[in-house]
Amino acid sequence: MRSTHNLACLFTTIFVTLVNAISRSTDGFDLKPFTINLSSRVPRLMTLVNNTRLPEKPLYTVDQQKGIELDVLRDLHSEWLHNFDWETQQAQLNEFSHYTAVIEGQTVHFIHETSGDPDAIPVILVHGWPGSFQEFLPIIRALTQSSTSATGAKLSFNVVVPSLPGFVFSSAPPLDWTVDDTARIFNTLMTEVLGYSTYALHGTDWGSAVAYSLYSSFNTTVRAAHFVWVNFVPPTQQELVDKNITLSPGEKITEHRGTDWATIGQGYLNEQTTKPNDIGYSLYDSPGPTPRAGTPPSVLTNTAILTSISLYYLTDSFLSALWMYALNANGFPSEYTKAPTDAPMLFTQYQYNVGFWPEQYIAKVGNLVSYKFNDFGGHFAGLENPPALIEDIRELGAHFKRDKAQTKVVDQYADMKNQVYLQ
Ligand SMILES: *[C@@H]1O[C@H](CO)[C@@H](O)[C@H](O)[C@H]1NC(C)=O
Ligand SMILES: *[C@@H]1O[C@H](CO)[C@@H](O)[C@H](O)[C@H]1NC(C)=O
Ligand SMILES: *[C@@H]1O[C@H](CO)[C@@H](O)[C@H](O)[C@H]1NC(C)=O
Ligand SMILES: *[C@@H]1O[C@H](CO)[C@@H](O)[C@H](O)[C@H]1NC(C)=O
Repeated sequence: MRSTHNLACLFTTIFVTLVNAISRSTDGFDLKPFTINLSSRVPRLMTLVNNTRLPEKPLYTVDQQKGIELDVLRDLHSEWLHNFDWETQQAQLNEFSHYTAVIEGQTVHFIHETSGDPDAIPVILVHGWPGSFQEFLPIIRALTQSSTSATGAKLSFNVVVPSLPGFVFSSAPPLDWTVDDTARIFNTLMTEVLGYSTYALHGTDWGSAVAYSLYSSFNTTVRAAHFVWVNFVPPTQQELVDKNITLSPGEKITEHRGTDWATIGQGYLNEQTTKPNDIGYSLYDSPGPTPRAGTPPSVLTNTAILTSISLYYLTDSFLSALWMYALNANGFPSEYTKAPTDAPMLFTQYQYNVGFWPEQYIAKVGNLVSYKFNDFGGHFAGLENPPALIEDIRELGAHFKRDKAQTKVVDQYADMKNQVYLQ
């Protein structure tokens, strides 16, 4: 989790597009509908859960700052054994339309839910670690339904939720794979596999690094972007003082949580960046000790947490997903760079998130048109405060529609592409 042209460039893009078009005609991306069926793996999982021993009482009485509390873990353990039913969860996950496609040799799993409205806005939602496509399930249906924006325009979305490489049903990437590679294949997913010439995006956690790379590198196709996290090191308290940035009471809470996370909350990050195999092999066949309690106050339920952990365990993803840290060891730059795009960028700071970026800092990295603060919800906004995230994405949609003037540029670009095909 928690954890980013000039003419010559245009021709390179056209060339790459052409090469992709040729490879598409040979492999066709192997786009296939997909049904989740992990049932045969559940008995072993339940045996492991049942055989898990936990201490009778905590060794030391400390709060969650030293890691998950024994009470929370016992609750989850008991619920897992006695109430949690994978088949029920699996049936709910299968209520969405899942697909797989093969892009540059990577199997990419994704959900694609369409609205039926010909003017629907394509939007890609990119999750992070320890999340999965599951993080966005509470908002997908609402987004595909028509709503009226503040300006009176009707809005609905075609929603695409891919699984990051190495996560659940997407294959593990090669050793030299970074967030930029993931961005490239996700742009191919949106444009070539699904045929959207422009689209909007939302990113959180590592997904925000992927989304920022998309926003920066594909400025003709990504035409609006919403973030709740950016992978730039947040300012320290001293920097805030030096820059005379005063915080609201709510912002102070977030800033404090961010500072705490940076000083005492990043053990997992260091471990996963420097020794991914040690923790990865330990968790490979052990569903026990990893649950996170979300970022309260939130509406994140034990069922959502257990479904998430089960998804990781049942797909053998603990190892391949946490390798994302090691593959992107420089993925959290301290120098803020501005994305070369005029596409609108929106940011929402959720109060209980674990990183705080003031508006002045977010404005450095893109064409910021909206900066909001939300006093409920944390790092997993899609699970913790779905109505607020739905509202954020609708606002994103309104900006995307307003940006329609840009599609002229895109259409010309598409014409050029066609001319190249024809030559
Ligand atoms: C896209 O980025 C290039 C620089 O990399 C810039 O010249 C161009 O104006 C940008 N296009 C848009 C639509 O922002
Ligand atoms: C999963 O596969 C098993 C056979 O391995 C089958 O009995 C079951 O009906 C399948 N479930 C779903 C949801 O397709
Ligand atoms: C757990 O294991 C015990 C001992 O083998 C068994 O009696 C019990 O039924 C199991 N519980 C569950 C929920 O599988
Ligand atoms: C800091 O900001 C306050 C208002 O927020 C202003 O009154 C003050 O002059 C500023 N100080 C500096 C050094 O810019």
